[in-house]
Amino acid sequence: MKARRPLIAGNWKMNGFAVAGTHLAGALVGRAAEDPDIAADIVVCPPATLLAPVGEMLRGTIIALGGQDCHPEPSGAHTGDIAAEMLADLACDFVIVGHSERRADHGETDAVVRSKAEAAARAGLIAIICVGETEAQRDSGEALEVVRAQVRGSVPDGATAESVVLAYEPVWAIGTGKVAQPSDVAEMHAAIRQEIRGLIPDADALRILYGGSVKPDNAAQLLALEDVDGALVGGASLKADDFWAIAKTCG
Ligand code: PGA
Repeated sequence: MKARRPLIAGNWKMNGFAVAGTHLAGALVGRAAEDPDIAADIVVCPPATLLAPVGEMLRGTIIALGGQDCHPEPSGAHTGDIAAEMLADLACDFVIVGHSERRADHGETDAVVRSKAEAAARAGLIAIICVGETEAQRDSGEALEVVRAQVRGSVPDGATAESVVLAYEPVWAIGTGKVAQPSDVAEMHAAIRQEIRGLIPDADALRILYGGSVKPDNAAQLLALEDVDGALVGGASLKADDFWAIAKTCG
Protein backbone atom coordinates (compact mmCIF):
# COMPACT_ATOMS: atom_id res chain seq x y z
CA MET A 1 0.00 0.00 0.00
CA LYS A 2 1.15 3.54 -0.73
CA ALA A 3 2.35 5.88 2.00
CA ARG A 4 -0.07 8.56 0.84
CA ARG A 5 -3.72 7.56 0.95
CA PRO A 6 -5.08 7.93 -2.58
CA LEU A 7 -7.82 10.42 -3.38
CA ILE A 8 -10.31 9.66 -6.13
CA ALA A 9 -12.22 12.78 -7.13
CA GLY A 10 -15.20 12.86 -9.47
CA ASN A 11 -15.68 16.06 -11.44
CA TRP A 12 -19.18 16.05 -12.86
CA LYS A 13 -18.56 19.37 -14.65
CA MET A 14 -21.74 20.92 -16.13
CA ASN A 15 -23.61 17.63 -16.11
CA GLY A 16 -26.49 16.39 -14.04
CA PHE A 17 -30.10 17.49 -13.83
CA ALA A 18 -31.92 16.95 -10.56
CA VAL A 19 -33.23 13.48 -11.30
CA ALA A 20 -30.13 12.02 -12.99
CA GLY A 21 -27.72 13.68 -10.56
CA THR A 22 -29.44 12.43 -7.44
CA HIS A 23 -29.78 9.02 -9.06
CA LEU A 24 -26.03 8.93 -9.62
CA ALA A 25 -25.39 10.05 -6.05
CA GLY A 26 -27.75 7.34 -4.79
CA ALA A 27 -25.87 4.70 -6.77
CA LEU A 28 -22.57 5.90 -5.30
CA VAL A 29 -23.98 5.82 -1.79
CA GLY A 30 -24.95 2.21 -2.45
CA ARG A 31 -21.44 1.29 -3.63
CA ALA A 32 -19.95 3.04 -0.62
CA ALA A 33 -22.14 1.07 1.76
CA GLU A 34 -20.89 -2.18 0.19
CA ASP A 35 -17.25 -1.09 0.33
CA PRO A 36 -16.70 0.81 3.58
CA ASP A 37 -13.04 -0.22 3.71
CA ILE A 38 -12.10 0.95 0.25
CA ALA A 39 -8.46 2.08 0.30
CA ALA A 40 -9.03 5.60 -1.01
CA ASP A 41 -10.59 8.87 0.02
CA ILE A 42 -13.46 9.66 -2.32
CA VAL A 43 -15.00 13.00 -3.23
CA VAL A 44 -17.61 13.97 -5.78
CA CYS A 45 -17.92 17.48 -7.19
CA PRO A 46 -21.39 17.97 -8.68
CA PRO A 47 -22.51 21.19 -10.36
CA ALA A 48 -23.44 23.94 -7.90
CA THR A 49 -27.15 23.33 -8.51
CA LEU A 50 -26.85 19.84 -7.01
CA LEU A 51 -24.53 20.50 -4.09
CA ALA A 52 -27.34 20.71 -1.55
CA PRO A 53 -29.33 17.60 -2.50
CA VAL A 54 -26.26 15.48 -3.21
CA GLY A 55 -24.66 16.70 0.01
CA GLU A 56 -27.73 15.56 1.93
CA MET A 57 -27.44 12.12 0.36
CA LEU A 58 -23.72 11.83 1.12
CA ARG A 59 -24.06 12.86 4.75
CA GLY A 60 -22.71 10.11 7.00
CA THR A 61 -21.15 8.16 4.11
CA ILE A 62 -17.46 7.77 3.24
CA ILE A 63 -17.95 10.01 0.18
CA ALA A 64 -17.05 13.67 0.61
CA LEU A 65 -18.55 16.62 -1.26
CA GLY A 66 -16.67 19.22 -3.27
CA GLY A 67 -17.34 22.29 -5.37
CA GLN A 68 -15.94 22.85 -8.86
CA ASP A 69 -14.85 26.46 -8.34
CA CYS A 70 -15.04 29.30 -5.84
CA HIS A 71 -14.65 33.08 -5.84
CA PRO A 72 -11.66 34.59 -4.01
CA GLU A 73 -13.88 36.87 -1.87
CA PRO A 74 -15.99 35.60 1.04
CA SER A 75 -19.11 37.54 -0.03
CA GLY A 76 -20.20 40.59 -1.97
CA ALA A 77 -21.27 41.95 -5.33
CA HIS A 78 -20.16 39.09 -7.59
CA THR A 79 -23.25 38.00 -9.48
CA GLY A 80 -23.27 34.32 -10.32
CA ASP A 81 -20.23 33.46 -8.24
CA ILE A 82 -19.99 31.22 -5.19
CA ALA A 83 -17.78 31.87 -2.18
CA ALA A 84 -15.65 29.15 -0.64
CA GLU A 85 -17.49 29.89 2.61
CA MET A 86 -20.79 29.04 0.88
CA LEU A 87 -19.38 25.68 -0.18
CA ALA A 88 -18.26 25.04 3.39
CA ASP A 89 -21.74 26.04 4.55
CA LEU A 90 -23.12 23.20 2.38
CA ALA A 91 -20.72 20.74 4.04
CA CYS A 92 -18.20 20.64 1.23
CA ASP A 93 -14.71 19.56 2.23
CA PHE A 94 -13.04 20.17 -1.13
CA VAL A 95 -13.08 22.60 -4.03
CA ILE A 96 -11.45 22.25 -7.44
CA VAL A 97 -9.60 25.41 -8.50
CA GLY A 98 -7.82 26.25 -11.73
CA HIS A 99 -9.30 23.49 -13.83
CA SER A 100 -8.07 23.96 -17.41
CA GLU A 101 -11.64 24.54 -18.56
CA ARG A 102 -11.89 27.49 -16.14
CA ARG A 103 -8.45 28.72 -17.12
CA ALA A 104 -9.56 28.62 -20.78
CA ASP A 105 -13.24 29.63 -20.54
CA HIS A 106 -12.81 32.31 -17.88
CA GLY A 107 -9.25 33.45 -18.46
CA GLU A 108 -8.12 32.36 -15.01
CA THR A 109 -4.44 33.07 -14.49
CA ASP A 110 -2.17 31.43 -11.95
CA ALA A 111 -2.65 34.48 -9.72
CA VAL A 112 -6.43 34.07 -9.81
CA VAL A 113 -6.12 30.36 -9.13
CA ARG A 114 -3.84 31.07 -6.20
CA SER A 115 -6.35 33.56 -4.74
CA LYS A 116 -9.07 30.92 -5.04
CA ALA A 117 -6.88 28.38 -3.28
CA GLU A 118 -6.30 30.97 -0.54
CA ALA A 119 -10.07 31.42 -0.26
CA ALA A 120 -10.48 27.67 0.08
CA ALA A 121 -7.98 27.58 2.94
CA ARG A 122 -9.69 30.53 4.62
CA ALA A 123 -12.98 28.60 4.48
CA GLY A 124 -11.41 25.38 5.74
CA LEU A 125 -11.70 23.59 2.40
CA ILE A 126 -9.03 21.49 0.69
CA ALA A 127 -8.21 23.02 -2.69
CA ILE A 128 -7.63 20.61 -5.58
CA ILE A 129 -5.34 22.83 -7.67
CA CYS A 130 -5.22 21.80 -11.33
CA VAL A 131 -2.24 22.25 -13.61
CA GLY A 132 -1.39 20.87 -17.04
CA GLU A 133 0.12 21.69 -20.40
CA THR A 134 -1.56 22.02 -23.78
CA GLU A 135 -0.75 19.71 -26.66
CA ALA A 136 1.30 22.45 -28.38
CA GLN A 137 3.32 22.96 -25.20
CA ARG A 138 4.04 19.23 -24.95
CA ASP A 139 4.94 18.99 -28.63
CA SER A 140 7.40 21.85 -28.26
CA GLY A 141 9.07 20.24 -25.27
CA GLU A 142 7.86 22.85 -22.76
CA ALA A 143 5.50 20.67 -20.71
CA LEU A 144 7.69 20.28 -17.63
CA GLU A 145 8.55 23.96 -17.39
CA VAL A 146 4.97 25.10 -18.07
CA VAL A 147 3.58 22.88 -15.34
CA ARG A 148 6.32 23.74 -12.85
CA ALA A 149 5.56 27.42 -13.41
CA GLN A 150 1.84 26.80 -12.88
CA VAL A 151 2.63 25.04 -9.60
CA ARG A 152 4.82 27.94 -8.44
CA GLY A 153 2.17 30.46 -9.46
CA SER A 154 -0.92 28.68 -8.17
CA VAL A 155 0.03 27.22 -4.79
CA PRO A 156 -0.51 29.79 -2.02
CA ASP A 157 1.97 30.71 0.68
CA GLY A 158 1.33 28.73 3.83
CA ALA A 159 -0.13 25.76 1.97
CA THR A 160 0.47 22.30 3.40
CA ALA A 161 -0.25 18.75 2.32
CA GLU A 162 -3.35 18.98 4.51
CA SER A 163 -4.75 22.06 2.79
CA VAL A 164 -4.01 21.40 -0.87
CA VAL A 165 -4.00 18.58 -3.39
CA LEU A 166 -2.46 19.03 -6.83
CA ALA A 167 -3.99 17.54 -9.97
CA TYR A 168 -1.89 17.13 -13.11
CA GLU A 169 -4.24 17.14 -16.06
CA PRO A 170 -2.67 17.42 -19.50
CA VAL A 171 -5.19 19.57 -21.37
CA TRP A 172 -5.00 17.38 -24.47
CA ALA A 173 -5.95 14.29 -22.45
CA ILE A 174 -9.12 15.76 -20.92
CA GLY A 175 -12.28 14.28 -22.39
CA THR A 176 -10.44 13.07 -25.46
CA GLY A 177 -9.77 9.44 -24.66
CA LYS A 178 -6.04 10.17 -25.12
CA VAL A 179 -4.15 9.18 -22.00
CA ALA A 180 -0.67 10.36 -21.25
CA GLN A 181 2.06 7.73 -21.43
CA PRO A 182 2.75 6.31 -17.97
CA SER A 183 6.42 7.26 -18.35
CA ASP A 184 5.43 10.88 -19.07
CA VAL A 185 3.02 10.91 -16.14
CA ALA A 186 5.72 9.53 -13.85
CA GLU A 187 8.19 12.14 -15.04
CA MET A 188 5.73 14.99 -14.58
CA HIS A 189 4.58 13.89 -11.13
CA ALA A 190 8.19 13.59 -9.99
CA ALA A 191 8.85 17.10 -11.33
CA ILE A 192 5.80 18.46 -9.52
CA ARG A 193 6.94 16.77 -6.30
CA GLN A 194 10.37 18.34 -6.70
CA GLU A 195 8.87 21.78 -7.37
CA ILE A 196 6.57 21.56 -4.38
CA ARG A 197 9.52 20.75 -2.09
CA GLY A 198 10.52 24.40 -2.36
CA LEU A 199 7.00 25.60 -1.56
CA ILE A 200 5.49 23.57 1.26
CA PRO A 201 7.03 22.02 4.35
CA ASP A 202 5.58 18.51 4.00
CA ALA A 203 5.94 17.94 0.26
CA ASP A 204 6.33 14.20 0.62
CA ALA A 205 2.82 13.98 2.11
CA LEU A 206 1.17 16.02 -0.65
CA ARG A 207 -1.21 14.15 -2.90
CA ILE A 208 -0.70 14.62 -6.64
CA LEU A 209 -3.60 13.32 -8.72
CA TYR A 210 -3.56 12.46 -12.41
CA GLY A 211 -6.52 13.49 -14.56
CA GLY A 212 -7.35 13.13 -18.22
CA SER A 213 -9.42 10.26 -19.64
CA VAL A 214 -8.99 8.06 -16.57
CA LYS A 215 -11.18 4.98 -17.05
CA PRO A 216 -11.53 1.63 -15.27
CA ASP A 217 -9.24 -0.02 -17.83
CA ASN A 218 -6.30 2.39 -17.45
CA ALA A 219 -6.64 3.44 -13.82
CA ALA A 220 -4.63 0.61 -12.28
CA GLN A 221 -1.56 1.31 -14.41
CA LEU A 222 -1.67 5.05 -13.71
CA LEU A 223 -2.41 4.75 -10.02
CA ALA A 224 0.45 2.30 -9.54
CA LEU A 225 2.99 4.99 -10.48
CA GLU A 226 5.05 6.14 -7.53
CA ASP A 227 4.04 9.79 -7.38
CA VAL A 228 0.45 9.33 -8.57
CA ASP A 229 -1.70 9.59 -5.47
CA GLY A 230 -5.14 9.36 -6.99
CA ALA A 231 -7.20 10.54 -9.91
CA LEU A 232 -9.40 13.43 -10.95
CA VAL A 233 -12.07 11.78 -13.06
CA GLY A 234 -14.43 13.60 -15.42
CA GLY A 235 -16.44 11.54 -17.91
CA ALA A 236 -16.09 8.24 -16.05
CA SER A 237 -17.35 9.84 -12.82
CA LEU A 238 -20.81 10.14 -14.40
CA LYS A 239 -21.22 6.37 -14.29
CA ALA A 240 -21.33 4.95 -10.79
CA ASP A 241 -19.92 1.58 -11.87
CA ASP A 242 -16.98 3.12 -13.69
CA PHE A 243 -16.17 5.63 -10.97
CA TRP A 244 -16.29 2.97 -8.31
CA ALA A 245 -14.20 0.57 -10.40
CA ILE A 246 -11.53 3.29 -10.64
CA ALA A 247 -11.61 3.82 -6.88
CA LYS A 248 -11.42 0.05 -6.30
CA THR A 249 -8.13 -0.17 -8.14
CA CYS A 250 -6.65 1.45 -5.01
CA GLY A 251 -7.53 -1.72 -3.09
P1 PGA B 1 -12.00 13.39 -18.20
O1 PGA B 1 -11.93 14.78 -17.39
O2 PGA B 1 -11.83 12.29 -17.20
O3 PGA B 1 -13.37 13.40 -18.83
O4 PGA B 1 -10.91 13.42 -19.20
C1 PGA B 1 -11.00 14.97 -16.36
C2 PGA B 1 -11.12 16.34 -15.80
O5 PGA B 1 -11.30 17.30 -16.58
O6 PGA B 1 -11.05 16.54 -14.59
